Amino acid sequence: MAKYDLNHYFSDIDKNGLKKTWHSILSKSLKNKFDSELFVLDNFGELYEIGLAHENKINKKEMGKYYTPKDVSFLMSEWLLSLEGENICDVGCGTGNLIISYLELVGLEKAMELIQEGHIYLYDIDDVALEICKYSIALKYGSDCLKKVHCILCDFLDQNIRLPKNSKVISNPPYYKITNIGNNWKVTDVVMDSNELYSSFMEKIISSSLSSVIITPYSFIGSDKFYSLRCFLNHYNGFIYSFDNVPGQIFNGRKHGVFNSNKGNSVRASITVVENRKDCFGFRISPLIRFKSEERERLLSGNFLNQFISSKYQIVDSNHKAYYKCFPELNDLFDRWMMVSDQVLGDVLDSSVGRALYIPTTCRYFTVGASSKLKRDGKRTVYISDDIYNYIYCFFNSSFAYWYWRLYDGGINYSFSLIQNIPIFYHQLNSSQINKINQIAEEMQKREKEFFVYKKNAGKSQENIKFPVEYRNQINSVFLEALGFSSNTSIFQRIHSSSLFGGCDDE
Ligand SMILES: C[S@@+](CC[C@H](N)C(=O)[O-])C[C@H]1O[C@@H](n2cnc3c(N)ncnc32)[C@H](O)[C@@H]1O
Repeated sequence: MAKYDLNHYFSDIDKNGLKKTWHSILSKSLKNKFDSELFVLDNFGELYEIGLAHENKINKKEMGKYYTPKDVSFLMSEWLLSLEGENICDVGCGTGNLIISYLELVGLEKAMELIQEGHIYLYDIDDVALEICKYSIALKYGSDCLKKVHCILCDFLDQNIRLPKNSKVISNPPYYKITNIGNNWKVTDVVMDSNELYSSFMEKIISSSLSSVIITPYSFIGSDKFYSLRCFLNHYNGFIYSFDNVPGQIFNGRKHGVFNSNKGNSVRASITVVENRKDCFGFRISPLIRFKSEERERLLSGNFLNQFISSKYQIVDSNHKAYYKCFPELNDLFDRWMMVSDQVLGDVLDSSVGRALYIPTTCRYFTVGASSKLKRDGKRTVYISDDIYNYIYCFFNSSFAYWYWRLYDGGINYSFSLIQNIPIFYHQLNSSQINKINQIAEEMQKREKEFFVYKKNAGKSQENIKFPVEYRNQINSVFLEALGFSSNTSIFQRIHSSSLFGGCDDE
């Protein structure tokens, strides 16, 4: 008989449905009675997704993207290994990427011990995924795992569902807006304010375990609606890494071959590691890590990533509502900037009088301030009085405005509220520094048209300015000096780069 392939699979799903089809694949595999090169343990997760798409149960585009790739699962497992907790729980285990990575990492002997002693707990709302996960473990570690591994088919947010005592959790929770609050959920501020499943899962996991490693979208780091989650996190401690999604992206671990490679932009991800060390509160936050796909392998190791995490534990409060994502080498400069700034940009904006400054909203590698009315869709127009115009003009063409966006956002657009909040330090500049800024600004304004660049967006040409980098360096140098720092502008290299290692400036 021909080996079992995708055609057999689709016809089985059409005839018997996904659940029966998988039950048959799994039980035959366990008895060694399944002949297929494709339907092997390593491929189960993706084959299940293909099956779901075939049944049209979930929008394929939404569904497939956020399973945890092998290298990320391994990194998360390494972090989990170093944490306290006797029982190992995978919440939202799906077909088992995370728990299987963890068991592989601890080695056969320890994995068998954990399973046999009943220390493995799996939670998912999807019965078929949960079954695939359980059988995958059994295929690796023997069929009596089916009885020893705790499989909890559930809505994890239901209050009747509890983690065991003494547990540590690894999780990639679902990323959906909450459409219905479950009857038996604990309705907390986090649930109500965020209206997101992932943050609600984080809250429940963190409040009921000793330690955890959780991968989620990065939006909770700064968005207003997750402020209550950040306040909740003040009571715990650990570290959080955030990853950009251009050019490389964390959820791009799809294999090739029969499986489509997912090239589309996906979510910017954070990995939160809750350590709960004694007498310590808050989280150490990484910068928004931007990497090229070819740097991925070098990047995804705990030892390598260590260099990006600052030693400072951040706590939020009503004056500092968001975490900031700072490269450790820029920490002192950041502190100084915050300390000496006596105004925010919103204080000097004036809608009735003043000169217009045009700020393109998208800022991938730098920000721009223009005195010419740029022909483009996405731009903000602010009006600034003459006395401070050149300073603000330079500010937007320096690294500072761009860095602020990377610290507190780093997504796609520079929001107006973030622009208004930028701390400025005009009064730190002495008269010779002000003269220098005026000179640079006037020269740049005269020459703007020489540096116009055009990009097509949805068929429409978008005007922008790409000034030579020397201008940015000249401005940075004056600003650094005004803040009492050496005028070595290379400290900003990493924030403008698409590469972690190259340090070059990218468009
Ligand atoms: C992003 S996937 C992660 C899958 C897998 N752990 C991984 O890392 O590749 C989220 C998982 O959460 C499950 N899930 C969704 N809502 C749930 C709920 N209310 N309770 C428990 N699990 C849920 C989904 O079925 C899915 O398997």
